[in-house]
Amino acid sequence: MTKEPFTLIGTAFHTPERCRLEVLQDHLFSVDAQGRIAEILAPGRPEYEARANAARQAGTLVLLADGQFLLPGLVDLHIHAPQWPQMGKALDVPLEVWLQKYTFPLEARYADVDYAREVYADLVDNLLANGTTTALYFATVHVDASLALAETCLAKGQRALVGKVAMDDPEQCPPFYRDADATSAVADTRRFIEAVKVLDPQERPLVQPAITPRFIPSCTDAALQGLGELATEFGCHVQTHCSESDWAKQFVEARFGQTDAASLGGFGLLTRHTILAHSNFINEPDMDLIKEKGAGVAHCPLSNVYFANAAFPLRAALDRQMHVGLGTDISGGYSPSLFDGCRHALSTSRTLQSGVHAGLPPEQRGAPGEPITHQEAFWLATAGGAEALDLPTGSFRVGHEFDALLIDTKAKASNIHINAADDTLEDVFQKIVLNAARANIAMVWVRGRMVVG
Ligand code: GUN
Ligand code: FE
Repeated sequence: MTKEPFTLIGTAFHTPERCRLEVLQDHLFSVDAQGRIAEILAPGRPEYEARANAARQAGTLVLLADGQFLLPGLVDLHIHAPQWPQMGKALDVPLEVWLQKYTFPLEARYADVDYAREVYADLVDNLLANGTTTALYFATVHVDASLALAETCLAKGQRALVGKVAMDDPEQCPPFYRDADATSAVADTRRFIEAVKVLDPQERPLVQPAITPRFIPSCTDAALQGLGELATEFGCHVQTHCSESDWAKQFVEARFGQTDAASLGGFGLLTRHTILAHSNFINEPDMDLIKEKGAGVAHCPLSNVYFANAAFPLRAALDRQMHVGLGTDISGGYSPSLFDGCRHALSTSRTLQSGVHAGLPPEQRGAPGEPITHQEAFWLATAGGAEALDLPTGSFRVGHEFDALLIDTKAKASNIHINAADDTLEDVFQKIVLNAARANIAMVWVRGRMVVG
């Protein structure tokens, strides 16, 4: 799809590397008809004025106003689209009860494609308004409703990877909500992959399919085997839950005598294009295996507080240069905002081990070595997630696609207050990461197309 090329001038913040904030003050960004960043120029460069004048004359110049800043779009590495209607509800029970009592009955309703279309339209509008330009979605077992989600993302311009959920084990999944058997779980996944490829046949599709065994406890060996073979055949993305809770971890170890990660690897489900949600209880050999395969982890700090009563060992994963990004895990997490995700990742990293602190010196309280910085949190929500998915976005770079947010710190109802005399641009960035809300997101672009604003 080609669009009007345009040129934008303003101050941008991004974290092209994990520990590096780069401030692109008053830079000029040229976005071409394919939505790619064609040029980034600093003020004072010889072509700067000529490009600005040409765009001004063509009527395609976007000038950021005082108090407005550009950020890369946010990447949600783990979200359950059908759980949108129960966001903020039923988080006071353990995972296995939550699944059976609330979540499976809700997801079963998506047999009705009209219901799916209605919920998914509302969900995608809300996520875009919250700045989520890319999402890796779990849908439901239903092929048609899962396709409705892919169609909705494409129509509304959100970059997405969508999975028809596979769950066929009659011991763990209720009769009203499961694949009939392993053969149909695999055949329907194949049908879904092929249909998404027809839906978005572009050379660089905006919407892609993902192979999605819900988690090992919900799948038979035959389904896991068949899905692993599909992953090899199509080379497409894979997503699943990995070692999320004590219960889920123990279930897998009792069944296979090895961890989730090792078991997934054995079925061919651990590839460069696999995203493992949660992974709270992975051990060192698991980390080595995930790193060796090039797979990534969706860190879901908020839902981990509820369902895992634990935290993902983020620092150890980052030290190993594993791919990691952030997931909202709606509705295991109650916030659709990845800015909130950054804040939850920050606070979790500072309080990983609580225990009894009375009398301990400061350096022994909390979780020594674990705290991440706000730059790292933002990297996780942008470039980290994009790199995990192997997508050309997440930071501003020539050749990358222009997925971006215009943050208006002077918006009505803004919680961000900048004092020009006291705040450096680095301070402004920190204030945005810690205080930006939906009200501050004035415009959103995905692949150069304005999708909010
Ligand atoms: N494990 C299996 N299914 C789910 C789910 O829907 N949400 C979460 N958080 N964990 C799961
Ligand atoms: Fe989840």
